[in-house]
Parts: sequence; structure tokens; C-alpha cells
Amino acid sequence: MSFAALILAAGKSTRMLSATPKVLHPVAGKPMLQYGIDAVRSLNADKIAVVLSEGMEGVRQRIAPIPTVIQHPPQGTGHAVQCAMDFLKDYTGPVLVLYGDTPFLEPSSLAKLLDQVRGGAAVAIMGFYPLDAAQYGRLSLDQKGGLEAIIEYADCTDAQKTIAFCNAGLMAMDGRHLPALMAELKNDNAKGEYYLTDLVAIARKKNLHCSAIEVDEQEVMGVNNRTQLSTAEKYMQQKLRQKMLDNGVTLIDPETVYFSADTEIGKDVVIEPNVFFGPNVKIHGGVHIRAFCHIEGAEIKTGAVVGPFARLRPGTVLSEDVRIGNFVEVKNTVMQKGAKANHLTYLGDAAVGADANIGAGTITCNYDGFEKYKTEIGAGAFIGSNSALVAPVVIGAGAMIGAGSVITDAVEADALALNRAPQSAKPGWAKRFRDAMIERKKKKTA
Ligand code: UD1
Ligand code: MG
Repeated sequence: MSFAALILAAGKSTRMLSATPKVLHPVAGKPMLQYGIDAVRSLNADKIAVVLSEGMEGVRQRIAPIPTVIQHPPQGTGHAVQCAMDFLKDYTGPVLVLYGDTPFLEPSSLAKLLDQVRGGAAVAIMGFYPLDAAQYGRLSLDQKGGLEAIIEYADCTDAQKTIAFCNAGLMAMDGRHLPALMAELKNDNAKGEYYLTDLVAIARKKNLHCSAIEVDEQEVMGVNNRTQLSTAEKYMQQKLRQKMLDNGVTLIDPETVYFSADTEIGKDVVIEPNVFFGPNVKIHGGVHIRAFCHIEGAEIKTGAVVGPFARLRPGTVLSEDVRIGNFVEVKNTVMQKGAKANHLTYLGDAAVGADANIGAGTITCNYDGFEKYKTEIGAGAFIGSNSALVAPVVIGAGAMIGAGSVITDAVEADALALNRAPQSAKPGWAKRFRDAMIERKKKKTA
């Protein structure tokens, strides 16, 4: 499907009260702008550009190598498209314009809008019936249902304000007509801005056809402040939970599980309540995630059991049948098949061999305040409880580490390594101590 896409994101987004540009605020762990980019990419756009205002270098870097057009100073949505006319030079296919703050757009609806242009409309827009029409532009239709004009709220008469069919903001234009239409945009309106929406009336004057399709309000929901951001997050989570359930994932209490837009979960995975998935998590089929886990940047393979109360950080790979128990943190660590760390452990920058058993309270000391170092634990090794493994260090396959050891040197395969003060014992000492103390207390209270 051939078309060009412009995503407008040059707004100041003052209502977010944020140092971060609005379009980079995440919904389900993914920046809002990325939703629009992904949607047009999934339809194989010929070219995509994002319109930014000056000083949005952070956004440009984030979306590179997608080209950006700078609009300075922003003078309305029509002006934004004017600034992109060089980018569109000689493009004769349909041109789709969308906003950077609408994360729920379905590619299928965008395709429908583009079809309107392919079917002969010079301008096609997405309309909807909002519960509260508020300050949306109103759509004026002719008797045949064709689109006559979009009247911006600020310019509406009282009668026009009663129109319930509103402009969602998305438009598609026929690239062959666009330069001539753009040339006639004026800013003689209530806001003194160049409204892209005026293209409809301009096209009609030239006897060109314009049309509107209808979409659900939720799909075109925009985010302008933190309240709307939290509403968007809520909708998105509902959508993701439903997708998981439809894909064969068991969620014991769906409302308490939070996904990222890119979370991948296989069939027959059971997720207990209160689990959070940050970006970049892939879970294969047949995994069990127990309650209260925080998981990001991790891959978990079939048969693994994680939690309750586990934290998996970026770079974690748990192979088949691995066990990660309560209060275990794993970072940048690959655990081979069947390895276990069941209690109170930190594994960072480590490689753990198959079937190795990491005892309670084991810590990989991977950081000296300046650099990170690696710990390698061989297959079948047994690390006694409360051991500190001071990286860089290698523990051979089948080796055992005595509980409470601080291991700083390599341990060869099948060896026992332990370092701790030798135990001394004083027979009868405890009883003599107790008897003496009881005697002393008696004397004091007598
Ligand atoms: C716009 C529509 C209105 C519609 C509403 C739906 C126009 C003139 N009006 O109004 O009919 O009902 O959206 O939400 O288009 N932007 C730029 N450069 C600018 C101005 C805006 O890039 O100079 C970007 C913004 O970052 C934003 C989008 O365009 O992503 C929409 O701008 P906004 O000011 O929110 O338009 P509305 O007044 O809401
Ligand atoms: Mg708006």
C-alpha cells in the first residue's frame, strides 16, 4: 500500500508540566509517538516524517533514522504540513497526517482512510461522536453525506456547536492536489493559525470530493495532560490483558498485571497477581510467574518458575526449567537449564551452568565502584548459603562452595572451596554462663 505519512508533534504540550516532550511519555512502556510510527510502518508507508518544533532534539534522537521536519515557530496544523512540503515534493500518492499523541490508532482504520483517497476523495478525515464534544472541530456534511467543511470550535456559531460529529484530527489527502490546496491556506481565523482542517472547504470550492469515515472515540483518544495519560495507560493495559487472555495466557487476576506494549508471552503461561512487565520481555510457553514479580529485559524459557517476589532485570536469560525464588534479583545473567536460585540472592553479570544450585543469600559482588566484572559458575556447581563471590571469578563445574565463604580465586571443577574462620567449641560454656547470670539476677532482686 503506497502512501506518505506525516506525524505532527510540534506542540509545546504545556499541559503535561513536564521536562520531557509529551510525545515521549510512555504508554505501556512505549513512547506515544512510537505508536503512530509503528502503525504507519505496519502499512508499509513509502516515506514517513515527523514534524517537531525547535529544541526537540531528544525526540529526533529517539526516533532516528526517521526524518524530521522542524516547524519554527509552530503556527498551526496547516503550517506544520506546509513545513513538510519539501519532504513531500513531487509525491503524488495519498498523504496521511496524524498526531503524535494518539496511541490507540488501529492500522486498519488508517487503511480505510487511505482507501477514501484512493476512491477519489481529495481530502478524507476521521470523524467520531465524542461523549463530550468539548472543543473538537465540528464536521459539516452535505445532503449526500459528503464532507463540506470542518469548523474549528473557536470559529463555530452556536448552532454549529450543537453538531455531534467531530474531527478526530487524522486526515488523508491526495498528493496530486495537495500543493494547490496548501497554497490557499490562510490564517484569518479566531486563533490566527493555519488550520489544516481548512483544506476541506478549499477542496470543495475547487469542486473536489471530500469524505469522512467514523471511528470509535477510544481509538482517537489524545493525551494532553497527566490525567489523560493515566486514562490512556488504563485503556492500553485493558487491551494488552485481553490480548494475553485471547492468546492462551492465564491471568489469575488480570487487573493487577501490567504489561508493556512489546511483552511477548507464549501459551499456557500462568501469571499470578501483582506482576509488572517492563519493556523487552519474552516468555516462552509453559512458564509460571508467581505473585509480586518485577520483570524487564528478560527472556524466560519453557518450564521455568519465577517468584514470588523476584526481580528480573535487563540481560536476564532463564533457560528451560530454571527456578528463581523469593527475593532473588537477576541482572545481565544467563542461567542454563535447570539451574536454581531459590532464596535471597543477587546474581549480576553472571553465567550459571546447567543444574547449578545457588544457595540462599548468595551474592555476586560484581562491582567495585568503577567497573563491573563477571562471575562464571559451572554446570552442577553447588554454592553454599551466604556466600560472596567476588568477581571476576570462575567456579568450575561440579564444585562446592562452603556456606558463608568469600570466594575471590578460581575454584577448579569438582573441588570444595571454603574460607571462613575455623570453628572453636567450649564444652559446657553456655550452661556455666546461664547459671552465673541467673545467680546474679537473683542477688540483684533479693
Ligand atoms: C485539532 C483539529 C480539530 C480536531 C482536534 C482533535 C486543527 C486546526 N484542528 O485541534 O479539528 O477536532 O485536533 O484532537 O487541526 N501541531 C503541530 N504544529 C502546530 C500545531 C499543532 O505540529 O503548529 C501538532 C500538535 O503537536 C498535535 C497536533 O498537531 O500533535 C494537534 O494540535 P492541537 O493544537 O492539539 O490541535 P487542536 O486544537 O486540538
Ligand atoms: Mg489537541
